[in-house]
Amino acid sequence: MSKNIFILNGPNLNLLGTREPGIYGAETLADIEKACAAHAKGHSLTIDFRQSNLEGELVDWIQEARTKADALLLNAGAYTHTSIAILDALRAVDKPIIEVHLSNIFRREDYRKHSYVSEAATGIISGFGSHGYILGIDAAAKLIK
Ligand code: DQA
Repeated sequence: MSKNIFILNGPNLNLLGTREPGIYGAETLADIEKACAAHAKGHSLTIDFRQSNLEGELVDWIQEARTKADALLLNAGAYTHTSIAILDALRAVDKPIIEVHLSNIFRREDYRKHSYVSEAATGIISGFGSHGYILGIDAAAKLIK
């Protein structure tokens, strides 16, 4: 059976393409999903690509990743900077966790410079736009092969 990567997206990422395109780019989340699926296929991996604006739903999906994913890519959006609930859920996942951000969170506002997700992540990719998801799949593929 092929290995599976959960790619989870947090609040407001459903608005990609129209939301602050100068920061987040012109591509939609559907465009990113398509590119991720194609790239994962090249690694003989499947993906489960989801987005939610709800913190609890993201926690539920991270818990689901414990049994249904071999690796987890997470762009938690603004919950990155606020959510201990997401951090606790991630700490219970014994799989590679790749934190992804479209923008470089370290050259933006001070409140974006701390990430709870990073405390549980294997690594972080930030500032490469949607290509960060592709880099994240490459990193996950190497870690789980
Ligand atoms: C983001 C960065 C976060 O600070 C922000 O709240 C987002 C998107 C990114 O992908 O660059 O919603 O995670």
